[in-house]
Amino acid sequence: MGKSFNFLPASFEDFRRRAERHLPRSLFDYIDGGATDEVTLRRNVADWKDVKLNQKVMRDASQMDCGVELFGEKLAMPLVLAPIGMGGMAARRGEVQAKRAADAAGIPFCLSTVGICPMDEVAKVSDKPFWFQLYMLKDRGIVEDILNRAWDKGVRTLVFTIDLAVLGTRYRDIRNGMAGGLGRWGKLRTGLIDYMMHPKWAMDVGVLGGPHGFGNLASYVKYSKDTYDYVAWTQNQLDSSVTWKDIEWLRKIWHGNLVLKGILDVDDAREAVAVGTDGIIVSNHGGRQLDGVSSTARMFPHIAEAVATETTLLVDGGIRTGQDVVRALALGAKAALIGRPWVLALGAGGEPALTRMLDIIKQDMKTALGLTGVPKAADITQDILLKDQSWNC
Ligand code: GLV
Repeated sequence: MGKSFNFLPASFEDFRRRAERHLPRSLFDYIDGGATDEVTLRRNVADWKDVKLNQKVMRDASQMDCGVELFGEKLAMPLVLAPIGMGGMAARRGEVQAKRAADAAGIPFCLSTVGICPMDEVAKVSDKPFWFQLYMLKDRGIVEDILNRAWDKGVRTLVFTIDLAVLGTRYRDIRNGMAGGLGRWGKLRTGLIDYMMHPKWAMDVGVLGGPHGFGNLASYVKYSKDTYDYVAWTQNQLDSSVTWKDIEWLRKIWHGNLVLKGILDVDDAREAVAVGTDGIIVSNHGGRQLDGVSSTARMFPHIAEAVATETTLLVDGGIRTGQDVVRALALGAKAALIGRPWVLALGAGGEPALTRMLDIIKQDMKTALGLTGVPKAADITQDILLKDQSWNC
């Protein structure tokens, strides 16, 4: 790995605390924060812990296999690095580092439209394909162009985000000026103070890590001067009028796997199946959109009951450990996605730290497989859960 640690981060919280020290406040808060009071964000994490596993012993735990197949790809474990806007600011050319770590771990990396590194740069990391995420932009010509470019770069799985017709209110971003309103001098002043207080990041990413625009959008955002301008352009382009009809249109022009991200309602899940989606990501955007909605852990079983036999179900939101991944599989997901964990691991120590985090998640998964009596992740069913979840034990 080429990097030694003077203390070994073991849990998500260890990586998070490290990232908090390294990253500028506004960036850390953008990644770490959620909508308004962050109630849904907290529930996302807490509710997975309430899904009780059932311990089973004496079933030969000598060989564990975390591998699964997803959209025709073989994964070393049922985990995907979720698309995160500006994730690449957490470390120098962050998405490239994340793609390398994902390749090494044998899992897919999903590049965000509003990532820092353009798809061309990520594609150069290796021959292993990556996933790509897109929103519905007002300018459909740009949507088509981006999809064609992604296809040419080998993308065959498109994650289409459908819960961003309006943008959630994020108090932390308002306070830090990430949501606009600071003016040019205010931005400069705030930026400089944040840089000075985090000199290592400022040199590594701020000075040596550019360009810092949204690489995939650079050719469309003509007037861009800084990351704030990219944010403003993107917010202006988000199409609030989007409906299922637009997904029908999308289905016609995108010939790869289409995965809709942002479903938290049973009827919406049925609509998604009806428009011909290949997969659904049960998601509340990591608690960043509408605070007060249900956690994904609580909604997932209802959606699974309605559509699990008709589509591939994935889930994100609050997944922090290998046990959480196993819980998600037991409820019927084919894989789980992590967002904040990978970006904060990058912020804590770049690719080596992320590699370590992924390794820990895999070890935790193996422990859970070994002690629930199912050695293969692909064989997990709800039988590994405690039958009566209401038991207070
Ligand atoms: C964008 O998708 C965000 O959550 O900031």
